[in-house]
Amino acid sequence: MNTKASAWIPLLPSHQLRAAQDVVAACAEGEELALWRSAEGLAQVWEDRCPHRGMRLSLGRVHAGRLACAYHGWEYEADGGRCGAIPAQPGAPLPRNLCVKTHAALDHGGMVWTCLGGAAAPPQAAADARATTFCRSLAIRAGLGPVSQALAAAGFEAVQALVWRGELAREAVAAYLTPARDGLTFLHAWSRIDARHPAFASVMAALRRLRASIEAAP
Ligand code: FES
Repeated sequence: MNTKASAWIPLLPSHQLRAAQDVVAACAEGEELALWRSAEGLAQVWEDRCPHRGMRLSLGRVHAGRLACAYHGWEYEADGGRCGAIPAQPGAPLPRNLCVKTHAALDHGGMVWTCLGGAAAPPQAAADARATTFCRSLAIRAGLGPVSQALAAAGFEAVQALVWRGELAREAVAAYLTPARDGLTFLHAWSRIDARHPAFASVMAALRRLRASIEAAP
């Protein structure tokens, strides 16, 4: 399956991006990304590069509702990425035309999504309303095509771009795929069963077997 640059791409489970605390590195379609949340809790998906001197913003921290770069401490504002403070130069005029490259961001179905290619219709309803327990994220050393083919061979159905639904160990599973870069795809798995249910371990084992079979394929 080919993804279009204008498609919404699932990046990571929403609960793994805590408000006003975390800056998380991610990768989608070869783009390095820095993820964080504004003071209002809105997900931000930014290019992982400071416009000042190019430091990785994912090494920074959230401060006063802005993302502060780890190198010289310049702070960038949510919802636009404009420079909002230079703590080392109090009173100096701010370079208001200096902005981080930002991408569309959305919390939906328990995932943080981005759209790298500009406007696109929001993703449809969550992959499976019954699949509400996050299982795990798997890094699979294979491209999106082989991973998609393996899911299809396992009886999964693509319900929208990058979202599949099927069964593992006789339990309903939703699989969200993140094409990170050539030869690397993340699979985020959700199940309808609680993590304390005896069948949960079977689902996890089935996920590991699925990954092993994909990576072993010629
Ligand atoms: S490189 Fe980020 S503030 Fe200088």
